[in-house]
Amino acid sequence: MSAAAAVRRFEPAKVQGNILRGYRYKRVRYLMLEVTDVATTRRWLGATVTPGSGAPAITTEVQWTVKPDTCFNLAVTYPGLRALGVPKASLASFPTEFVQGMNSRAVKVGDTGPSAPEHWATPFNEPGKLHLIASIYANDIAHLDRVEQQVTATSANAFSTLGVRDGWCFDGDTVHFGYRDNISEPRFEGIHDPDQTPDAQPMSPLGAMLMGYPTEYEGLMWNVPEPDALGSNGSFNAFRVLAQDVAGFEAYLSDAARNLLADPLGPELLPPGEEARIGPGLSRHAALREIVAAKMCGRWRNGVPLALSPETPDPDAPVSLTDFDYSGGASCPFGAHIRRCNPRGGTIVQRAARHTRRLVRRGTPYGPAFDPANPDSEERGLLGNFLCANLGAQFEALACDWMNLGLQDPRITGSNDPLLGANTVDTSWLDIPLPSGSVIRLRGLPRFVRTRGGAYTFLPGLPAIRYLAALGDGRAS
Ligand code: HEM
Repeated sequence: MSAAAAVRRFEPAKVQGNILRGYRYKRVRYLMLEVTDVATTRRWLGATVTPGSGAPAITTEVQWTVKPDTCFNLAVTYPGLRALGVPKASLASFPTEFVQGMNSRAVKVGDTGPSAPEHWATPFNEPGKLHLIASIYANDIAHLDRVEQQVTATSANAFSTLGVRDGWCFDGDTVHFGYRDNISEPRFEGIHDPDQTPDAQPMSPLGAMLMGYPTEYEGLMWNVPEPDALGSNGSFNAFRVLAQDVAGFEAYLSDAARNLLADPLGPELLPPGEEARIGPGLSRHAALREIVAAKMCGRWRNGVPLALSPETPDPDAPVSLTDFDYSGGASCPFGAHIRRCNPRGGTIVQRAARHTRRLVRRGTPYGPAFDPANPDSEERGLLGNFLCANLGAQFEALACDWMNLGLQDPRITGSNDPLLGANTVDTSWLDIPLPSGSVIRLRGLPRFVRTRGGAYTFLPGLPAIRYLAALGDGRAS
């Protein structure tokens, strides 16, 4: 980190539009690209920031009056920066996590066993070849195809496409496992209107996401990769392809609910006869399944937070989906996914870490929806982007210390995230505190989410794309 220099003025035209705000299109397509002709790739990069060039134009943070049919953004990996000819001194100024790449950092983020990089799908198993990831956003496949064709038509064999991944949104913003997602995101000073999404958490400074702006740490900023034209206004991203074992998850809910039927503490979790408060017409077993799902996540599957509504997911109950914290106690298990990932105002071991590990999350399901009546063996999961200004201090610290080690609270230390963690059936557990002070311990959680690939990328600002375009012709400065 360095002492904050003079505060930079935020210029939306210099920042890619997929960082601070979500576009909320129904579909996304990721093109994984390998640079094969450096000079042509540089020219094409220049075209993406030159109006009227014919190449898809990079969407910026400048606000729309009319929402476009498509948006287009670019990310570059460290091998990509090298392939484009970024000078050594500049390469050396990028942070270690990004330089080493996601594959090398596997143990740190729990990508072990079946999630280890040697099992990853193409092209993520050959990280040296993955240089650029282009993202296309639209509401239908025809528009995705159109922009992809535009990429091909304007890039003249500059790069080869190593892989394509499509994601699509389910109704109601749900993801596989049936939870509503995309609710809690950091709000940025000067970007979001705090009255639109009430939330007791402080607004995040731009430096939590963008290079070159003040951070939460008083007077300190993350080192901006050099030169400033390349580093500033950029953001780092952990792109993850996360396969979800939906059949295994639903089977676990059934088993856990069956165990609770026989547990003497079960009635404290759900008094007999009160099943209807979980959902109309539910059997006791079905109601207990939903309770287990809620305790694992920290939200009922319809998004209602346990912290505000521990007894019922009733969507008509007047609770906020965003404005809550954990200072009030244990209505949400300490080890639940969202409490681990963002302890909000609750007590944690390193109080100073509160609010400093926030990530912008942009996730879209991939693969067909799971139909329990017709189970299949298709791969399905989440194409996730976890954006931040510092991969080590935000994404990795969260994935390692909080999600997989539980270091934020002695009551969960030694356990992993119940939804996402590197769990094994023999050792995993999740404690569910009860109103009386007793605890029900769920055991036997398998690993429900397996990493299938990913990459650490840099989302360059618009001046940085121009800088990359000008490399080699003496214009880059
Ligand atoms: C298949 C993978 C995943 C699934 C199914 C999943 C599911 C969810 C759900 C349902 C929510 C609640 C909705 C919301 O608060 O917006 C949530 C929140 C969250 N998740 Fe995940 N997640 C996944 C992966 C991850 C990963 C890899 C990370 C970080 C390394 C992560 C970090 C978070 C954070 C920070 C929140 C917001 C917590 C808050 O601010 O209250 N998730 N996730």
